[in-house]
Amino acid sequence: QIIHLADYRPTDFVLERVDLTFDLHPTETKVEARLIFHRREGADPKAPLVLDGDELSLSGLLLDQVDVPASQFEATAESLTVRDLPESTPFELTITTVINPEANTQLMGLYRSGGIYCTQCEAEGFRRITYFPDRPDVLAPYTVNIIADKAANPLLLSNGNFLGGAGYGEGKHFAAWFDPHPKPSYLFALVAGDLGLVEDTFVTMSGREVALKIYVEHGKEPRAAYAMDALKRSMKWDEERFGREYDLDIFMIVAVSDFNMGAMENKGLNVFNDKYVLADPEIATDADYANIEAIIAHEYFHNWTGNRITCRDWFQLCIKEGLTVYRDHEFSADQRSRPVKRIAEVRHLKSEQFPEDSGPLAHPVRPTKYREINNFYTTTVYEKGSEVTRMIATLLGRDLFKKGMDLYFDRHDGQAVTIEDFIKCFEDASGRDLTQFSLWYHQAGTPLVTASGTYDAAAKSFTLSLEQMVPATPGQATKEPMHIPLRTALFAADGALLTPTSVTGAELTDDVLHLTARTQTAVFHDIPSRPVLSLNRSFSTPINLQLSQSAKDLALIARYETDHFARWQALIDLGLPNLLQAARDARQGIPVTCDAAFVDALLAAANDESLEPAFRAQALALPSEADIARELGGNNDPDAIHTGRQAILALIAEAGKNIFAALYDNMQTPGPFSPDAASAGRRALRNAALTYLSQSDNAPARAKAAFDAANNMTDLSAALTILAHRFPETAEAKAAIEGFRDRFAGNALVIDKWFAIQAAIPGAATLERIQGLMETPLFKRTNPNRMRALVGTFAFANPTGFGRADGAGYRFLAEEILDIDQRNPQLAARILTSMRSWRLLEPVRADHARSALMQIERAGNLSTDVRDIVDRILKE
Ligand code: ARG
Ligand code: ZN
Repeated sequence: QIIHLADYRPTDFVLERVDLTFDLHPTETKVEARLIFHRREGADPKAPLVLDGDELSLSGLLLDQVDVPASQFEATAESLTVRDLPESTPFELTITTVINPEANTQLMGLYRSGGIYCTQCEAEGFRRITYFPDRPDVLAPYTVNIIADKAANPLLLSNGNFLGGAGYGEGKHFAAWFDPHPKPSYLFALVAGDLGLVEDTFVTMSGREVALKIYVEHGKEPRAAYAMDALKRSMKWDEERFGREYDLDIFMIVAVSDFNMGAMENKGLNVFNDKYVLADPEIATDADYANIEAIIAHEYFHNWTGNRITCRDWFQLCIKEGLTVYRDHEFSADQRSRPVKRIAEVRHLKSEQFPEDSGPLAHPVRPTKYREINNFYTTTVYEKGSEVTRMIATLLGRDLFKKGMDLYFDRHDGQAVTIEDFIKCFEDASGRDLTQFSLWYHQAGTPLVTASGTYDAAAKSFTLSLEQMVPATPGQATKEPMHIPLRTALFAADGALLTPTSVTGAELTDDVLHLTARTQTAVFHDIPSRPVLSLNRSFSTPINLQLSQSAKDLALIARYETDHFARWQALIDLGLPNLLQAARDARQGIPVTCDAAFVDALLAAANDESLEPAFRAQALALPSEADIARELGGNNDPDAIHTGRQAILALIAEAGKNIFAALYDNMQTPGPFSPDAASAGRRALRNAALTYLSQSDNAPARAKAAFDAANNMTDLSAALTILAHRFPETAEAKAAIEGFRDRFAGNALVIDKWFAIQAAIPGAATLERIQGLMETPLFKRTNPNRMRALVGTFAFANPTGFGRADGAGYRFLAEEILDIDQRNPQLAARILTSMRSWRLLEPVRADHARSALMQIERAGNLSTDVRDIVDRILKE
């Protein structure tokens, strides 16, 4: 069954308030929901009330406290229909259901794991708790009463402010919570159990004191300190940057170890995957710290962008997600290095969203139809949605963007809105017409911009010809030209910035050149000498850019651009042709070579002490094998790509031996560990140097020494990765792998890293390793983090192992997907998206991939989640 945006209509009944009582029990939790409704003005006076359910059974139904006769209602697992309801007066329905939290392996709705009751209701989990109008445009204040065994569940939490609690007899107690802010059901949360607490306070800009509480497993309290610090910085930043103040007396975060996603922004009670809360130097890498900071901020920022203002329907998901990702990106950029953050964002966008947007799962940022909403929590909605928001800020400039955001908060507080509402605020604030721009929400596919420049010395003008093409995507054969804001600069041969007196043929505001037609020619006047063009600075628009530039010009940008993102991009552009050619040569058995201009520019950047170490580390990280495959564009042989890339690494390693040795010595971080961005940058650069040194050594000794000397998880896991990936069969690697396991066997998050590092070992033998690992006691099939670490990493991040020529990797995945799907459809569907680029493989592998997908397709009892993905991936 397909849901269409065009079919949206408001409910017939308005929900006034919700009163829930949970009598918690591991296998028989009784839920009593008292819902007060009235018929919407203008609605059909005879229309029945139809509520959503999912695997529910009704055990009681009262209308205004009186039993409803069987003739007046109909209950199935999926819905509850009640007829003959009052035409104009409010009425109260009391619905009783009994649910089994222990048996809930989908981890949607109310579930219990590790002795903790917790909920996940977005997108449609609330209907697994009680019958309800489970859609985001139904907002109401909630009162929640929780009754539970006191010894096992000293903690009883829900949204909003704490009303009170008391004993309840028979070893039970109860607690009551009230959330005055009307909210949709997807933001409901309940947590009960026995957890440790870390407390702090925050004084808001208007002087209110907010109690901050982070709940983690007993004994892990010290590991929540960084998350708490990130939370306080997020609260402060949202006040300063967006004028947003927190609106309850208490803000709680609970970390749980079985969770389908990263985290969830439930009002006043965020629930987190513990991976994004717990950190200390022994267990967390610098990347973990950065993720924790970003996700804590993301969920907190949802309080305004998502909770106070929510989505009218799930098609509008990007209105909360794209915007909130933009906000968390800006936060991290302010907390850390802006250009380095931008580089990381673009790497992520290109490696995750670009393949989605160019393959069978491509969809607009604001889709118009879906079969399973859980499959639309995608990098297109999140990351491209963020890029589209960033472009609005680019088009309007900082002040008008702020004005538009203020208007949005003002105008729509307390509402469930659409993308059109959002865009209108920026039009009204700026007076700009954003009609063409809004195609970014509606047209899928990454635009391709082809550019070429010519200099006319006599006229002293530089002519830039631009052409845009938006590729066809599923359901969208033809496209309209988009509004593409290209940040642009011209540089002289000595690296000085050249400023034209005027530009004709295209609008230029500050450094933003507006491409709005299919083809356009911009002429820059009064340019004294042949300029070097820097186009799409800071990645101002998420496009593929085709612009051929000489190695000399790229080297100049890499050296002189004032926008450091553009410097990094120039280094990538210098390197990429070498990597592509290396893959082709390796496939033909031809020795791989590499342009000196690229190697020189790369080593110069690595060695440039005026640049931040984190930037230099980013420069040294070559495009991944998946990036190369995407750029090659078809008939891909993962082994050749791997071999070619390794050969380039070896050439750089050899040429830069002395530089890398010096960096390895100089980039130490003496003293106690600090997760700050500068120290993290030094570690990143040092570990990049170690990776190259281990290439030229061609021996495990140096990495093993680094492994033994490491005093933090960043260095330890970097050394383990080098050992396992480069020298998997050596005694040193084996000792490191075993030593790591024995040291961290009791820590699930670290053991996930141990599984993930091994799952990414290149080569055909890794499949057997993984199958062996699945037989060990450390493997836990029911834990999503563990499954993602082992099966997910293999499928997403190991092109040679997963894509081995005999197709065994794909067959393994098919079997795993079918198995996971029985317990946890959302997880199965997510991991299956790793197959989205199968058509880019060479014919033999593509055939194996297709057979594996068809094996899934043929299976009888697939979830809608997996059915939806496999159908779309296979569709011609
Ligand atoms: N809203 C959550 C966040 O972005 C993620 C929820 C994901 N839900 C889902 N059904 N996949 O922080
Ligand atoms: Zn979010």
